[in-house]
Amino acid sequence: MYYSDEIIEEVRSRNDIVDVIGSYVNLKRKGNSHSACCPFHHEKTPSFHVSREKQMYHCFGCGVGGNVFTFLMEHENFTFPEAMEALAERAGYDLPKQEMSANEKKQADTRTRIKDMNKLAAGYFHYLLKTDHGAIALQYLKDRGLSDDTITKFGLGFSDVYRDDLYKYLKNKGYKDEDLNDSGLVKFDEKYGFSDRFWNRVMFPIIDTNNRVIGFGGRVLGDAKPKYINTQDTLVFDKSRNLYGLNLAKKSKRQGIIFCEGYMDVISMHQAGFDNAVASLGTALTVGQVNLIKRFTDRAYLAYDSDEAGTKAALRALEIMREFEMPARVISLKPYKDPDELIQAEGVDELEKRINEAKSGTMFEIDILAHNYNQEDPQERTQFQKEAAKRLALITDPMERKNYIDSVAKHYDIEKDSLKEAVTQYGIAGGTKVDTSVFRERNRKSPEEEKEQQQLKTERLLISWMINEPILFEILQDTIQPDDFFEPVYHDVVKQLYEQYHREKKVIPAAIMNHYQSKEEHEKVSMIMQQDFEIPVAQSEKSKVVTDLVKTIKLRSIEHQMEMQKGDLTKQSELIIEKVRIEKMKPIIIQGSV
Ligand code: GTP
Ligand code: MN
Repeated sequence: MYYSDEIIEEVRSRNDIVDVIGSYVNLKRKGNSHSACCPFHHEKTPSFHVSREKQMYHCFGCGVGGNVFTFLMEHENFTFPEAMEALAERAGYDLPKQEMSANEKKQADTRTRIKDMNKLAAGYFHYLLKTDHGAIALQYLKDRGLSDDTITKFGLGFSDVYRDDLYKYLKNKGYKDEDLNDSGLVKFDEKYGFSDRFWNRVMFPIIDTNNRVIGFGGRVLGDAKPKYINTQDTLVFDKSRNLYGLNLAKKSKRQGIIFCEGYMDVISMHQAGFDNAVASLGTALTVGQVNLIKRFTDRAYLAYDSDEAGTKAALRALEIMREFEMPARVISLKPYKDPDELIQAEGVDELEKRINEAKSGTMFEIDILAHNYNQEDPQERTQFQKEAAKRLALITDPMERKNYIDSVAKHYDIEKDSLKEAVTQYGIAGGTKVDTSVFRERNRKSPEEEKEQQQLKTERLLISWMINEPILFEILQDTIQPDDFFEPVYHDVVKQLYEQYHREKKVIPAAIMNHYQSKEEHEKVSMIMQQDFEIPVAQSEKSKVVTDLVKTIKLRSIEHQMEMQKGDLTKQSELIIEKVRIEKMKPIIIQGSV
């Protein structure tokens, strides 16, 4: 971190979270909580809560959460220093200049500059498309069926036929060679010097979910190779963590997100009203991309090309979807190559129909398997049935598995009981016999894992209680220590809360947030801090609830210590005494709420 804790806390406390978030979303007040429809995922009923008291926000729908810094980092795509600067400026607070290391400052400046250059370039390409220079390109897009509205909506453009047109344009705007190099918009060659990366191409600006131009795709006007060129990875462009069209698709009212392979497919789909279409950026689908859409939707459709390459890509994509527990369906485009061609040939209704008839990922996979074996040959057919059973064994939900067994048995004319038996066998084999290179085993929850989840929940609840009733830090200080918490983040939070309480006689949840940097940590911590929004407990029951939580956590912690220090008899007897003390512990009385 580049700023001292004191300065970070100063800036944070000068920016009331309700005011800051209120300037982005329409917050409705209810009691001491403010709520709105979550700005980070699509929803119709508000599950995004902001607490003035705690200076934190949390969405019960998608799990995002944090303090005023994380909000700006997420919403504006700011780095931490950028969020600091924006909030300091907002509060009229002068940040000490030397706090950011020279190198970090340089990176932050470079990122800002790249975004500025990209924005200028996108504007320039779009402008050119409308001039004589872009006439052929514009005609090309029109011939492909795009309307003026669509062209504007996607900010499409044209890079001129001269190889240094953009280079000159940006130089004129005052950018240096070095800046231009960082942007990926130009290339440097020992012999020829600087030239544009994109020239004589139709330009597709790639816009992130914060509406920033982060890169470009460029298509040739005819059949030359390479058909598309994309911006290489830069400080602001990461192909594996962005999706083409998601800036628009995230606002779609349609159900799910449709993944296509090409930019043109996305544009064509949006124009036809399927404004929930996105595409990866010239690479196969990545884990980061599935993670990205998880906050916007709970289902995915694949509208990949119907050729062999497209099918392969779809199978791989389904694997990733399964790993992330994202239900996926596959849209059949046959006999057309891609969604764009299907729409051009058959129109909107046909695509709607295909979406409604989309096969579940599982059925699609089994279908592909079926085609890989000669069903007339008994040996091959047996092999197919085994592979299908292996696939079905991956389904964790028993009812879903049964339904699939029924369907597959019926559809492929397999005797149901023998299929079921095979599935059970492969299920028992527990993945060891399953060919994981084809269909990777999903993380199945073992009883131990279930137990662990339960433990985490107990820990989380107790911390929430302590935050809501800070008097508990006084009452519990001889009973509950940070070491009693297994989850490292919770352990850490409790330690900090105790320190804070002893120092300031109060707890400031949002200040603790300053210590965490990853999104995962922000979500974990904010979840604890906001817990009370969901669980109103009558005053009379508080005592019992808290006492039970303390006992559960403490007894488990004692058990753990006994296990760890088996050989130490003195320690063992101490622990036994402690155990008896906890078991006999009187109910904890919380006087009033704070
Ligand atoms: P159109 O021919 O314009 O309809 O393109 P398309 O969108 O149908 O593209 P296609 O299915 O051929 O390719 C899908 C995606 O792969 C494109 O949108 C690009 O992102 C990427 N792609 C295609 N060709 C190339 C190429 O030659 N180089 C690179 N880097 N990416 C490509
Ligand atoms: Mn196409």
